[in-house]
Amino acid sequence: MSEKMIYLDRNESNYGPAPACFEVLKNAGLTKLSWYTKAYSHGVKSILSERIANDFGIEEKQVVLGYGAEDILKQAVQCYLTKGSKLLIPTYSWWYYKKIADEVEGVGIEYPMVQGEETFYYDNEKMLKIYKEEKPEMVFIASPNNPTGNKLTLNEIKIVLKELQDTIVVLDEAYAYMGGDDYIKELMVENPNLIVVRTFSKYYALAGVRIGYGIIGANLAAMSKFTNRYLGYNRISEEIAIAALDSPDYYREIASKMEEDRNMFFDELNKIEGFKAFRSFANFVLVEIPREIYGTLKEFLLEKGLAIKFMNEDLLDHHLRITLGTQEENKMLCEAIMEYAVNEKMV
Ligand SMILES: Cc1ncc(COP(=O)(O)O)c(C=O)c1O
Repeated sequence: MSEKMIYLDRNESNYGPAPACFEVLKNAGLTKLSWYTKAYSHGVKSILSERIANDFGIEEKQVVLGYGAEDILKQAVQCYLTKGSKLLIPTYSWWYYKKIADEVEGVGIEYPMVQGEETFYYDNEKMLKIYKEEKPEMVFIASPNNPTGNKLTLNEIKIVLKELQDTIVVLDEAYAYMGGDDYIKELMVENPNLIVVRTFSKYYALAGVRIGYGIIGANLAAMSKFTNRYLGYNRISEEIAIAALDSPDYYREIASKMEEDRNMFFDELNKIEGFKAFRSFANFVLVEIPREIYGTLKEFLLEKGLAIKFMNEDLLDHHLRITLGTQEENKMLCEAIMEYAVNEKMV
């Protein structure tokens, strides 16, 4: 195995956060480290929830903060579900959803996500049919979805939400690209039982800082109480997140490089016999490969110091999930997979 591994397996960012985030760390002084926040004195729970609320044009009390999006998802489940409660989740989705339903002895019920020609898609009709039959307490929708990478358009989201008025809907947008997000306010006005979940881990490259947030509808005040931390949040993390929000140009440039690289993987890997790369709207790409090369390709890439995720789930057991690294890393990976394919006469 190569001495210096390149990790492209956990949907993290290898570009790192904006320079302004490092400045926050360099300049952290005694008050930030030793004192609790004084945000309460002006009627908000955190300078970050205040900032997010201002950016979206919503009330601060509609923003709840957590230790990553994982924390918000878990708190939503723990706040509203108990033993026997039903949670609707997509067939192909992040394994964590089932785990947190299990923690409260809830029942995870799957609704179909379908493999299309270039990308996966939600089968909204079937989902609504299952919803009407099962009457779940909560529905999870992920857009973009992990690991399939597909997303719903705003119009599709609106149509689905209209039908799901009698339940709590958690819309996991951990992989959403910020900018053009003006729809949050509109969604919140129309859907009082909606929780939109976001994170600083993906687009903002701050997974290690563990900051996520939820935007909650008017009927969900219980969630706000449930998540509240009376002595405040991590003051350094709050400032780092705000520094990221203040650096839109830095992140936009990375997003456009990622778009180029998603297209590169789609175009190149689809030239290989037996490979099927799917269109993605996130910082990763799902690729189906011939079952028989699963082990040898994995070994070949590890020898070259390249770690990607070889999926090992019931329905996705001969698939790769490639996290987008820097352009240099992506090119290296793409060339390595091509080299393997040429050796095996698959192109
Ligand atoms: C779909 C989805 N939601 C949420 C998360 C959680 O992100 P974090 O807890 O780092 O904010 C992940 C992490 O990979 C994810 O794939």
